[in-house]
Amino acid sequence: MKIVGICGSPREKATDHILKEALRMLEERGFATTSFTVRGKRISPCLHCDFCLTNKECRIRDDMYQLYPLLQEADGIVFATPVYNGGVSAQTKAVMDRCRALVAADFDFFRGKAGMAVAVGGDRMGGQELAITQIIAFYVLNGVIPVGGGSFGANLGATFWSKDTLEGAMEDAEGWRSLRKTIRRFSDLLGKEK
Ligand SMILES: Cc1cc2nc3c(=O)[nH]c(=O)nc-3n(C[C@H](O)[C@H](O)[C@H](O)COP(=O)(O)O)c2cc1C
Repeated sequence: MKIVGICGSPREKATDHILKEALRMLEERGFATTSFTVRGKRISPCLHCDFCLTNKECRIRDDMYQLYPLLQEADGIVFATPVYNGGVSAQTKAVMDRCRALVAADFDFFRGKAGMAVAVGGDRMGGQELAITQIIAFYVLNGVIPVGGGSFGANLGATFWSKDTLEGAMEDAEGWRSLRKTIRRFSDLLGKEK
């Protein structure tokens, strides 16, 4: 079972650190992981040129072509985004929109994969759940099975309060609890829990 983690932050700070920890926890549970970050990458927004509908590939030959094969081989997806203006980062949204080409080539590309979400906000209630809901909407409409962490602590997924620093995120005990709970349910669904 393979998991791909996608970091939607342009910085090597809180979101990046949390995603690395999430992938480490999944490896401990027996999964193989790969990761992709938007940091330093060229990822254009979707241009809605509809090239993909007839040619079954994206005409924008940028760094999304590094992610496409990782998504292809993945059984599970972990999207981790910083919260920007109450939702996902523009970089995360661009990645999601550019997946249209994959679905244009194969309508069932994502079907049956499992997905979980991590959102990291500078404020305690800065829009983490809205950001996760955007990711879950992407999952649902593409046939990915969305996994939350369950009630009493994690709800829709892993939510962190970074206070705008890596250190703040590292000290957010409730955030780590929500991540552990979400990872548990995610690996339960994928059937590889040790
Ligand atoms: C453009 C921008 C918009 C932001 N909007 C929000 C917001 O709406 N809510 C929030 O809690 N934090 C917001 N933040 C703060 C980031 O979510 C926070 O610093 C987060 O830890 C950044 O993740 P990173 O350390 O992985 O880059 C914003 C930051 C930026 C740069």
